[in-house]
Amino acid sequence: MQIIKEDNLNLAIDLINDGEIVAFPTETVYGLGAKATDAKAVSSVFAAKGRPNDNPLIVHVASLDQIDDFAIVDDQVRKLADQFWPGPLTMILKLKKDNQLPTEVTAGLETVAVRMPNNQLTLKLIEATGPIVGPSANLSGKPSPTTAQHVIDDLNGRISAVIDDGPTDIGVESTVVDLTVNQPTILRPGVITAGQLGAKDPSILAILDDKTPKAPGMKYRHYAPDVEVISFDPIDTEALKKELTGKDRVIALEDTLNQLQIVSEKSWSLGQSVKSANEQLYAGLRFFDHPDSVERIFVEGMPAFGEGLAFGNRLDKASGQNHFKYLDN
Ligand code: TXA
Ligand code: MG
Repeated sequence: MQIIKEDNLNLAIDLINDGEIVAFPTETVYGLGAKATDAKAVSSVFAAKGRPNDNPLIVHVASLDQIDDFAIVDDQVRKLADQFWPGPLTMILKLKKDNQLPTEVTAGLETVAVRMPNNQLTLKLIEATGPIVGPSANLSGKPSPTTAQHVIDDLNGRISAVIDDGPTDIGVESTVVDLTVNQPTILRPGVITAGQLGAKDPSILAILDDKTPKAPGMKYRHYAPDVEVISFDPIDTEALKKELTGKDRVIALEDTLNQLQIVSEKSWSLGQSVKSANEQLYAGLRFFDHPDSVERIFVEGMPAFGEGLAFGNRLDKASGQNHFKYLDN
């Protein structure tokens, strides 16, 4: 697979226009790009990832005009776009009748997910190619890629190229908000929170129930490394210190790692804030995902509000809600 840098962006444009798949950088995670109006190219995206075809894709655009061809843009959409785009917000909109999108993109739904990513190279790409689909550029079931190297690790030989623009800023996927229902509903938490979206009622976050998923993607086991992942509360750090064996690894905030006095090869720092924790989570999970040498990965939980909700959602999925519970007896 080719590695494309800024000076060679035209190659990426040509490849996409020819129906090939090119991974692209965004502010959240790397995406897997193909021309959204090309049914064959879209199908090959599902194949490259090993993604079930009942899980619809986000259409990435470079302007509101590009959406007008296939989805209904009303004042609410314009207002949110004004406020948050380009940026980590995906909106679910009603499809227009007689649109140009192949049914593969939306998995046959009457709605479509759209977003304008905040990355200059990718915006230039999409201006030239028109809308592109963009699921996260990982093998289905793996943590999303936050570097071009992660994309290569998962998809070498399966896609044509990756545009390398360095590590992504945010590290967790965009907030997905459904605007096709009476009360706008967050289907996937991200760094744009319900509060920022103007929700007066925090119960707007209700939907993350895996039994009746509104975002088809939420029903699949996601972000799951091969090694067992266990979350822990910072209050249990001393207990965890006694629990750890040589085959365990820890992903935690800097202060917690200091308290654990764990050797640096066996730890991955989440930095000092929820923001840096989101940025580092997937990279840490990938780094320790070696079942031959690693038995368990312990990951520190974050407070469950604001951007911490996105972290907790991804950690729950990676750990299957497996939580370290210290029994003091
Ligand atoms: O940050 C992101 O959103 C990244 C970057 C690459 O843009 N993309 C991403 O795409 O995370 P993906 O395919 O991994 O996740 C898209 C999520 C899935 O959970 C999917 O089920 C949901 O959005 N989705 C897509 N279309 C939908 C629709 N019409 N209705 C409800 N959920 C939808
Ligand atoms: Mg994904």
